[in-house]
Amino acid sequence: MQLSFAAPSVAGSGVLVLGVTEGAGLGGLAAEADEVAGGALKRAVGVTRFAGKPGQTVEVLAPSGLKASRVLLIGLGKPSALDSSAAERAAAGVIGRLFTSGEKEVAFALDLPKGTKLKPAEFAAHLALGARLRSYTFNHYRTKQRDEHEPTLTKITVGASDLGGAKKSWAALEGLADGMFFARDLVNEPPNVLSPAEFARRAKGLAKLGVKVEVLGEAEMKKLGMGALLGVGQGSDRESQLVVMQWNGARSKKDAPVAFVGKGVCFDSGGLSLKTGAGMMGMKGDMGGAAAVTGAMQALAARKARVNAVGIIGLVENMPDGKAQRPDDVVKSMSGQTIEVLNTDAEGRLVLADALWYAQTRFKPKFVIDLATLTGAIMVALGSDHAGLFSNDDRLSDRIMAAGRAEGEAVWRLPLGDGYDKLIKSKIADMKNVGGPYAGSITAAQFLQRFVDKTPWAHLDIAGVAWQDGEQKALTPGWGTGWGVRVLNRLVADHYEK
Ligand code: BES
Ligand code: MN
Ligand code: ZN
Repeated sequence: MQLSFAAPSVAGSGVLVLGVTEGAGLGGLAAEADEVAGGALKRAVGVTRFAGKPGQTVEVLAPSGLKASRVLLIGLGKPSALDSSAAERAAAGVIGRLFTSGEKEVAFALDLPKGTKLKPAEFAAHLALGARLRSYTFNHYRTKQRDEHEPTLTKITVGASDLGGAKKSWAALEGLADGMFFARDLVNEPPNVLSPAEFARRAKGLAKLGVKVEVLGEAEMKKLGMGALLGVGQGSDRESQLVVMQWNGARSKKDAPVAFVGKGVCFDSGGLSLKTGAGMMGMKGDMGGAAAVTGAMQALAARKARVNAVGIIGLVENMPDGKAQRPDDVVKSMSGQTIEVLNTDAEGRLVLADALWYAQTRFKPKFVIDLATLTGAIMVALGSDHAGLFSNDDRLSDRIMAAGRAEGEAVWRLPLGDGYDKLIKSKIADMKNVGGPYAGSITAAQFLQRFVDKTPWAHLDIAGVAWQDGEQKALTPGWGTGWGVRVLNRLVADHYEK
């Protein structure tokens, strides 16, 4: 999909997209186009209930006078509510509607309504971002597709009154979209293809952006004492991997980095505590945390963020086998603490235990944030509109919540506390890997906290948001969402760049 910016004009061919502010009627470019079309647009609006609300549209096919094959009038809502994410959703809706319509080109010619907080350049750049995010496809395993399902749209032009400014804003956002697409691809990829080694190989591709990528295999992890992570992978024929990505963009190399840690279970069968057939479906996406971390590293490097950042992902496959870890096994983590593994399906926390410890001891980061599709229980609590947030640090927690709000990746904080920590006491080891029947997402987070030293830490349980089965959201066509790339990128941009 080719995307470019141009001076706004109603003269183009293909689809002409015009904006209407709620309750305001046709003004600016929409009025101009209406005049060229001899009043056809106003008449079309007059026979509908179109009021300029977000999501409302009026389509006029083959309007006489205009070169466009069709005009799409879209509601922009009230100016006070028109922020960057409203702009993204508006553009995404247009792309969703036209993607397989037979149209090849679409040109946005939207005036920025008076009274919004957006600058013209931001408006244009976020229209472009919404269009780009909605144009994502994952079709490379299809060998045939019905003609009417074949995408036809190939060219998007976004009209921008501040052309230079729009291109500059877009330069930063384009890398973000690329990072999200990388994360989505990783989540969507089937598990026979995306083994831990294959994931690691793809992460190595970030080297072309200046990211330093190291890959540790099982022998190296064994030397480091990572018995918790290794236990999870020991029933798989595929080798577990730990990938360490470093982006050094701060002025000083010595500046302590920010650290992101991701759960990368390339397939979660549950291990010997085997999931049901239905429960296993979608478990190719159990590496969504690792995908978000990798995508975020890409986004930071692509825009040359002035920050030192490390991304650490623990990649394993959780399989049942003669060599698999048993329920009742006791393993020793890199931290020295022992864990009684009572349920081999509570494997993500075992992977993170060692990855978190490694991140803190090797890099002494300013903070560490882990992302993981950790518990089914977080979906019971929050559904798919918020990720769960747990933290030992109010300031970090507030910053993550604000970043999530700003980027349309909302998070909701849940509590930690001694009462919950008691639930993972083991009869024979330092802790067990499951709590009781209640507060499953919290006991999982308590487990992780036992592998956090004094470092400010936050855990994002993204089991409900890393992929979508039900209703499709405006900016995320398909299955893997790329959730987490935006919130991490924004957190860094707002607070940790110098
Ligand atoms: N990967 C799952 C969590 C999950 C479930 C993510 C459904 C997305 C959709 C995780 O490894 C798991 O199996 N968790 C168990 C923990 C339990 C055994 C304590 C769960 O949530 O049932
Ligand atoms: Mn599991
Ligand atoms: Zn899992």
